[in-house]
Amino acid sequence: MSTRVPIRLSVNGRAHELEVEPRLLLVHLLRDQLGLTGTHVGCDTSNCGACTVHLDGEAVKSCTVLAVQADAAEVTTIEGLTGGDGLHPLQAAFWEDHALQCGYCTPGMIMAAADLLARNPDPSEEEIRHGLEGNLCRCTGYHNIVRAVRDAAAELRAREAGARTTEVV
Ligand code: FES
Ligand code: FES
Repeated sequence: MSTRVPIRLSVNGRAHELEVEPRLLLVHLLRDQLGLTGTHVGCDTSNCGACTVHLDGEAVKSCTVLAVQADAAEVTTIEGLTGGDGLHPLQAAFWEDHALQCGYCTPGMIMAAADLLARNPDPSEEEIRHGLEGNLCRCTGYHNIVRAVRDAAAELRAREAGARTTEVV
C-alpha cells in the first residue's frame, strides 16, 4: 500500500489541497483529478511538449514533474491562460493563422510560446523556432505556428504600449 502525500497548490488561480501518491505525475493530477484535459499527453517520455504547463511562471513538461514537486506552487494550464477574458492573443493568432490542424500539440505549443514571449517580447523567427524546439507538431510543418507566435508577439507589444500610454494620460 503506498502512502499518500498531502500537497497544496494553486491551479489557474484556484487553491487545491489534495493527497497524492508520491509517483503521481503532475500531468495526471491535472487531467485525471482536476479534470483539466486541455493539457495533453503525447509521449509520456518528455519528448513532445504536448503536456507543457507553467509552474511558477515557467514552462515545464508536466509529464516530467511529480505532483509532489508542485507543492506550494502556482500552476497555469491552457484553461487558465486568459484569466477568463476571451482568447489570449496567442490563441487568437493560432486560430487566424491556421497554426493548427489536429490540435493535439496546440495547448502545449501555446503554453511554451507564452513563456517564450514573457522572456522575449520580440523574438526573431530563429528564436521562435529555437524556443519551441521542445514541442513537436506532426501536422503543420511549423511555418504557421511561427507566424502565429510573431503575430501574437506584435499584438502583445501593441497592448503593452497602449497600456503605457493610458498610464501616462
Ligand atoms: S507528454 Fe510530456 S513531453 Fe510528451
Ligand atoms: S496540429 Fe496536429 S500535432 Fe500539431
